[in-house]
Amino acid sequence: MKTPPGLQALIDDGVIDAVLRPLKSGKEAAVYVVRSGDEVRCAKVYKDMAQRSFQQRTQYQEGRKVRGSREARAIGKSSKYGRKQQEVAWKNTEVEALYQLREAGMRVPEPFGYFHGVLVMELVTDAEGFSAPRLGEVELTPQQARDYHAVLIRQVVLMLCCGLIHGDLSPYNVLVAADGPIVIDFPQVVSAAGNNAARSMLLRDVNNLTAYFGRWAPELLDTWYGEEMWKLFEAGELLPGTVLTGKFTPDARTVDLDSVREAINEARQEALIRQQGREAAAEDD
Ligand SMILES: Nc1ncnc2c1ncn2[C@@H]1O[C@H](COP(=O)(O)OP(=O)(O)OP(=O)(O)O)[C@@H](O)[C@H]1O
Ligand SMILES: [Mg+2]
Repeated sequence: MKTPPGLQALIDDGVIDAVLRPLKSGKEAAVYVVRSGDEVRCAKVYKDMAQRSFQQRTQYQEGRKVRGSREARAIGKSSKYGRKQQEVAWKNTEVEALYQLREAGMRVPEPFGYFHGVLVMELVTDAEGFSAPRLGEVELTPQQARDYHAVLIRQVVLMLCCGLIHGDLSPYNVLVAADGPIVIDFPQVVSAAGNNAARSMLLRDVNNLTAYFGRWAPELLDTWYGEEMWKLFEAGELLPGTVLTGKFTPDARTVDLDSVREAINEARQEALIRQQGREAAAEDD
């Protein structure tokens, strides 16, 4: 195929030898299947900020939430230098997270480096060797749903033990590899300690998984893994090997119903924005 402009520099530098085919163009990046020597890998070319939807620039990097159009406009007007810095930070975050999380034993694609704004990583494949489907595209048996849920809860724990929260964990950012689910797509990861919205993002990530797997295994809908792991994390007691129960008794004295309601509404609103972004990206394909 004709080499996409974002990948020519990698060919010139000998990082990759050929671009085999486009894999998927999402709202934030275009992913290609490439060949490096004898290896088939994938290359994620980030779209420039102007092409991406506004939500991630505002919500994640600030350490606090900014949602209104007034704030979005203000950020849009920020200095050229500021924008450039944000852009660099956004693109670097994912490769750094992949190295750190893999080192910590999490199931993520193996990174092979970051060159000219492009992330080169392992192509995750299914049992037949084809690029792996997204979790949201596969039918599951109740037992598979329970097994995958357990694997992914463990992944969220490992991440949290590294001080990180995915922030956009959904059936669209999990691939089903031959040996089980693998989490992808990390540019928006947030620091669990440095972000005021960390707890609600963690709960949203876990709830997305639970709600999805609950379609096949409804008993999962009565679990509270997010709350349980957050409480342990806050107390400094969460370890990679910590066994969770899924049970959680909220402390009646500290439950602030208004903020719970607010968090739920925010999660709904953000899910809607994301869904619209995905639909818009799908229409562009
Ligand atoms: N390492 C990989 N192996 C196989 N497929 C991959 C890999 N990374 C990404 N993909 C495919 O490319 C798609 C887009 O990748 P990713 O989610 O990282 O980017 P994105 O632009 O944020 O996408 P979206 O906006 O759809 O979430 C994934 O849904 C998946 O189908
Ligand atoms: Mg994605």
